[in-house]
Formats: sequence, structure tokens, C-alpha cells
Amino acid sequence: MYKSRISGLGHFLPPNVVSNNDLSKLMDTSDKWIQERTGIQNRRWVDPENIISSSQMGFRAALTAIESSGIDKSDIDHILFATISPDHYFPGNGVLVQDLLGLDTIGATDIRNACSGFIYALSVANAYIQTGQYENILVIGSELQSPVLDKSTNGRDLSVIFGDGAGAAIVSRGNNESEIFSTHLHSEGRNALELSMKGPSAIHWIDKQDPTKVSPEIFAPQMNGTVVFKNAVVRFEQVILEALNKNGMTPEDINCLIPHQANLRISQFIQKKLRLRDDQIFNNIQNYGNTTGASIPIALSEAFQNNKIRRGDIVCLAAFGAGFTWGSALLKF
Ligand code: ACO
Repeated sequence: MYKSRISGLGHFLPPNVVSNNDLSKLMDTSDKWIQERTGIQNRRWVDPENIISSSQMGFRAALTAIESSGIDKSDIDHILFATISPDHYFPGNGVLVQDLLGLDTIGATDIRNACSGFIYALSVANAYIQTGQYENILVIGSELQSPVLDKSTNGRDLSVIFGDGAGAAIVSRGNNESEIFSTHLHSEGRNALELSMKGPSAIHWIDKQDPTKVSPEIFAPQMNGTVVFKNAVVRFEQVILEALNKNGMTPEDINCLIPHQANLRISQFIQKKLRLRDDQIFNNIQNYGNTTGASIPIALSEAFQNNKIRRGDIVCLAAFGAGFTWGSALLKF
């Protein structure tokens, strides 16, 4: 069995910064409320006059990741694209990036596991590399969420949290200096509707033909914030400990935990439970909001760029989100 490693990273954030004060002009909210509940100060929302789609953002992040890995783009054997905000209902974003990069007819897979999407994609990439089927896989997490958010007071509980952006990694055949030790995936579908966007879907297509049956909530994300919070703090801790136990490590061994940037309060709760020092965890939700499937690769790429993680560090990635789904990956970066 081969080893796999992350050989390159990149991210792209749309330039349009939206502050909490900007939001208070659109809806009944305040900087104080948002910062106290979520830690978020700013997020990036694509300029509606100049839309850049999730495949295009993913493509830009991919270009940086390819350059950072030192491979030629023609060395990429497969694309895994994690998103819940694709350009089209079908086909998926992976094929769009295959075309934008001008790659040969390599396979492209889309993954729809929301906030856990990047961990799920990394897990698939890891398995492909381990079996020897592929040597270099492009893994992208990218989200264009701002257009679907309800920016009225009615949708304020959710719209203040989410942002747009993309991150990408090249996962390559590994060596002893750098390797993905293990990945761990879970789901609990009985909570599917606690965090969801029901439409557009094949079921609601029929209703759409009859405007009297269409409820606008179907086409905006819905969240039971309390249930999400309570499950997230438990599952994050469990799945991080699962990865550490599997590899004979303890929280003290982690150089950097990069949790999915759901909410700063959730990250702080996990940090406290695992007794991690401030220098053992990386958060950037303050600047970018919650970018769902893009949050881990953006944070990983930014942490690397800013020397918060270095080659050889023990890095733990962990996510929890819609499904519910959750997962972790432990690696020597
Ligand atoms: N601005 C001002 N007031 C608001 C806002 C807002 N943006 N949103 C809701 N409120 C109001 C509510 O209407 C409510 O008013 P009321 O008391 O008059 O009814 C009041 O604030 C309190 O609402 P709660 O829902 O009780 O607020 P809570 O303190 O629970 O915080 C939050 C809500 C932040 C969503 C919280 O439940 C939470 O942290 N949940 C975790 C979920 C999460 O972070 N998800 C991230 C995305 S999912 C993921 O990535 C896994």
C-alpha cells in the first residue's frame, strides 16, 4: 500500500468584503450580536454585478495549489470537487474544472457532504493514492453561498454566518517525511433536516410548476442552530479523539488543529474540551465567515502561507455539518 500526502495548497477569496455593519443596513442585526454569537467580523460575498461561480473560484484555488505542489497540471490523474453550491444542478463542478484547466479526459467526481465535504473528498483521494490507482489528485472545496441566503431580517440567523470562497489541495503519493495517517467518516441521516436547503430538488420541481405551492423557504438554507451546536461540539471531539487514538497520539501531540470554520464559539468549545493551547488551533472565520466545504482547505492553505503550519507538523483536520456528517483526518504535514 502506498502512502499519500498533501503536496500543494491554494485558496481564492472573492475581493468583496462585507462587514457586520454592512449587514446591519440590510437586516435587523448588529456587529455586537454577530461577534458575540459567531466570532465573525467580515465575510466575502461575491459582487452580484460580477458573479464568479464556485467552479471558477475552485479553478483559481487549483492553479495556486498546482503551482505550490510543483507538479505539472498534466500530472493530475483525478479531480474531486466538494461543493453544495455548484454552477449547475447537473453536471457537477469537477468536469467544469477539468475543462477550465485544459486537462486530458481524466475522471472528475463531485462530493455533496456540505461542511464535511472536503474531509470526505480527502478520504477518497487518500484511498485512491493508497491503492496505487492514482498518483496526484486535485481536491477542491468551493462555495458560492451568498446568492441563496435570505438577506432580510427573516433569514438573519443564517445569512450572517455564511461566506463565499474556495480552497484546493494536491494529494500525491507520499513519503516518510509527509503523510496522511488516517481519515474517519461518519453520518447520522435522522438529523438531515436540522440543517438543509430542500430545493431545488426533483421532489419540489413539481411544486415549482404551480406558484401557489412554492414556499420560498424551500430555496433558502434552514438551520436549527441549537441542535447543530449541541451535536457539533460532541461529534467534533469524538472524531478528533478517534483519529488520535487510531494513531496512538493524544491532543498534546497536535501541532495544529484546523476545524471546519462553523462558528468561533464551536471552535473555542472544542479547544477547551481538548485542552489545546491557542497556538495548537487555527481559526480564520473572523475574516471569512463559514464557507462550508471550502473552509478547511482555505484555512489549511492560509495557515501554511502564514507559517502557522510547517512541513513535518502533526495536523488534525475535523469537520461537522449537514447530514449530519462529520469526519477527521490526521496527517504529518
Ligand atoms: N442578529 C440579531 N438577532 C438575531 C440574529 C441576528 N443575525 N439571528 C437571530 N437573532 C435573534 C433571534 O431572532 C432571537 O430573537 P428572540 O429572542 O426575539 O426570538 C435571538 O436573536 C436569539 O436567538 P437564538 O437562536 O436563541 O440565538 P442563539 O444565541 O442560539 O444563537 C446561533 C444563534 C448563533 C445560530 C447559535 O444557535 C449557534 O451558534 N448555533 C450553532 C450553529 C452554527 O454555528 N452553525 C454554523 C453553520 S452549520 C455548520 O457549519 C456546521
